[in-house]
Amino acid sequence: MLTCQAWPEPIVRVQTLAESGLSSIPARYIKPCSQRPIKTTTTLAPHQSDDHDHVNIPVIDLQHLSGEDRVLREEALRRVSEACREWGFFQVVNHGVSHELMKSARELWREFFNQPLEMKEEYANSPTTYEGYGSRLGVKKGAILDWSDYFFLHYMPPSLRNQSKWPALPSSLRKVISEYSEGVVKLGGRMLNLMSMDLGLNEDYLLNAFGGENEIGACLRVNFYPKCPQPDLTLGLSPHSDPGGLTILLPDDFVSGLQVRKGNYWITVKPVPNAFIINIGDQIQVLSNTIYKSVEHRVIVNSNKDRVSLAMFYNPKSDLLIEPAKELVTEEKPALYPPMTYDEYRLYIRRQGPCGKAQVESLASQT
Ligand code: OGA
Ligand code: NI
Repeated sequence: MLTCQAWPEPIVRVQTLAESGLSSIPARYIKPCSQRPIKTTTTLAPHQSDDHDHVNIPVIDLQHLSGEDRVLREEALRRVSEACREWGFFQVVNHGVSHELMKSARELWREFFNQPLEMKEEYANSPTTYEGYGSRLGVKKGAILDWSDYFFLHYMPPSLRNQSKWPALPSSLRKVISEYSEGVVKLGGRMLNLMSMDLGLNEDYLLNAFGGENEIGACLRVNFYPKCPQPDLTLGLSPHSDPGGLTILLPDDFVSGLQVRKGNYWITVKPVPNAFIINIGDQIQVLSNTIYKSVEHRVIVNSNKDRVSLAMFYNPKSDLLIEPAKELVTEEKPALYPPMTYDEYRLYIRRQGPCGKAQVESLASQT
């Protein structure tokens, strides 16, 4: 069986639960102790604290990359290189996407989630394609679930773009999704270009490996994290690396929650106004033969405010074989991954749900 037709248990909308005013969360959202978000307690002395709040992921100004000044251009490229090699997670400003458009996309999606449940249920999704309104990732019966709902849609390739599966209301949402996605996809192409050059490949190497600009995959997942009466017991999104190529995330403008793993610590990302957060996915880890690594991340929730984020997944055309670039395979560093299509690769997370970096790591150990 390749995919499941239906969810293993009746779907409960987390937003509905949260709005019912319950004071404790149902058992199926309670994580085992070792997986819960750990709060810094006041009993720890500052040097013992696990709070890495002074650290943030790199912030890169893209403005100089296309500028005339060679020194500034090289400095910006160097920062992209370091961010990709050392972090796999960074923020970009002056990225070319209109701030107004970012704001209206976020606001309209917030409005979508704040509509009555019946309106949203018209778009209820299934595990066959995941398109539409959803509340879980993975089909394992009895799994401990995350404290979030989402909406998932395809923007690229054009053959998968079906506006009738996108929300009809609020009335300007479809138009704004199109405009927003167009801008974000363009930014994704530009990032692939920079990464290819930094890896010592032809500048169009990665885009071509993804199938070229008309064939790449681009899907939008809008995450809605309702406020939670017991945020210390659960997670909005469990630890995972993104299975695709590159993710371009528009975080909430007021509420933080995204945490990135750095060694043994979880760093809370502090979003810079009007920035996008970009991270490397598993397919670029494979193509770069691990020069770039996908990074584990998760989302914590809080008891005061709902949080909305828009994640654009920029992926390879789903039936192309993805394998380490020949130029990056040497005798000392043989290909670490076998060729695999993205269609085949993503079945894992679609069945198992978020599992840290288990998938990409298990592939590397097979070769
Ligand atoms: C994701 C993701 C982070 C966030 O959708 O894959 O990691 O902040 N989202 O919502
Ligand atoms: Ni993610």
